[in-house]
Amino acid sequence: MQKVSDLFDALNVITGGRMVASLEEAKEGNHPFVILKSSGIYGKDVLEIPGLIHGDPDKEIKKVAVCMTMTELSIELAGATGVDAIVAHHPIADAASCGGVTLKDYLDLYEIAALECHEAFHGLHPGIAYLHGHKVIKSDISYGGIHGNVMFVGEPFSEIQTMGDMLDRLDAHMCLEDDAALLEAERRIKGVQSIEETSLLTRGRVLVGQRASPVSKILHIFPHTGFTKEHLRQAIIENPDVDTVLASISRVYEGHELINEARSMGLNFMVGNSHVLEILENGLPLAYALDQLLEDVEIVVFRDRVTSTPLANVGHQQLKDYARQFSEAHLLGNNILSCHS
Ligand SMILES: [Fe+2]
Ligand SMILES: [Fe+2]
Repeated sequence: MQKVSDLFDALNVITGGRMVASLEEAKEGNHPFVILKSSGIYGKDVLEIPGLIHGDPDKEIKKVAVCMTMTELSIELAGATGVDAIVAHHPIADAASCGGVTLKDYLDLYEIAALECHEAFHGLHPGIAYLHGHKVIKSDISYGGIHGNVMFVGEPFSEIQTMGDMLDRLDAHMCLEDDAALLEAERRIKGVQSIEETSLLTRGRVLVGQRASPVSKILHIFPHTGFTKEHLRQAIIENPDVDTVLASISRVYEGHELINEARSMGLNFMVGNSHVLEILENGLPLAYALDQLLEDVEIVVFRDRVTSTPLANVGHQQLKDYARQFSEAHLLGNNILSCHS
C-alpha cells in the first residue's frame, strides 16, 4: 500500500532532497526552496513550500494527478476521477488554487491531498533545452543576481542548422498538429471561426531573422523571470559567439526592448515554447518519474486548454438569453434583489 508520505518521499528522490519535511521546517526560514513570491501587492504574496501542503501523510493513495497550476477545475476533476493526491508544479494558495474558498474545506470534501514542487523542481533536468534543440554548455539560475533569472548558453544539436529546424523540432515534440486539429473541430462544431486557443496562438516563431537563418550558439532566456536588455548586453559580452537569442516559457512581442536590443546587436531572435506547454516540458517528466517510483499507483496528467471566444458566440440561444436577461435585470445598477424567500 502506498501512502501520501510515499509520494512525498518520491518527490524527495526526484528533487535530490529539496522537499520540506514539515510546515514547521518551512517556518524556520532557512530552507533554500521555501521562497516568498511577492510583487509587493498587499495580501497577494504566497510562500512557496515544496512539500505536502494539505492532507494526511498516512492516507492511502491509489491515483495521483500531476498538474501545473491547481485550480477548482483540477479539484473537481480529481474528485470525479478518484484522485487521492494532486501534485502541482506552481505554488498552491488558499482561495487562488481552489475557486475562492479555503483549501481545507474543498480538499477535505473530496479527500484529496495536495503537494507542490516548483523552484525545487527547476534545474533538475535539461529537457527544456533538449526540446528546443540545444545542449547547455553554460547556465546561471540567478543571472544579474536575480533569483530565478535563468540564462543558458547552448550549442545546437548536429541536426539543428537553422531557427526553422528548431521550430519544426518543437512542433513535432509538442504534438501541435493534434491541437490544430482539435481547434479546427471545435470551431466547426460550434460554428465559430474566431475561437482562439493558447498553445497554438503562442507557438514558437522567428521574431528577428528568417526561418533559414543559421544557428551556431544560442542564448536561451526566460523574459518573465526578469531578464532585461542590460542582461542581454552583458551576456553577449561574456559570450560573443552567440548569434541567436531564444526566449521561452514567456515571450516578448514586437516593440519590446529585448527584441530591439537583439536587432541592434545583429542577433537573431526567436521565441520557443510558451508557459502553456510547461505541462509537457516539466509535468510529463515529473509524472513519469512518479510512475517509476510509486508502484501500483496510477498517474494521470491534468492539462489545461484555454480558449478565447467573442462574447456573442458563447453558448446556444437559451444560454445567451439567460445571461443577457439576468445581466440587464440585476447587474446594471438598476435593481437589487428585494427579498429572499
Ligand atoms: Fe516551472
Ligand atoms: Fe511555470
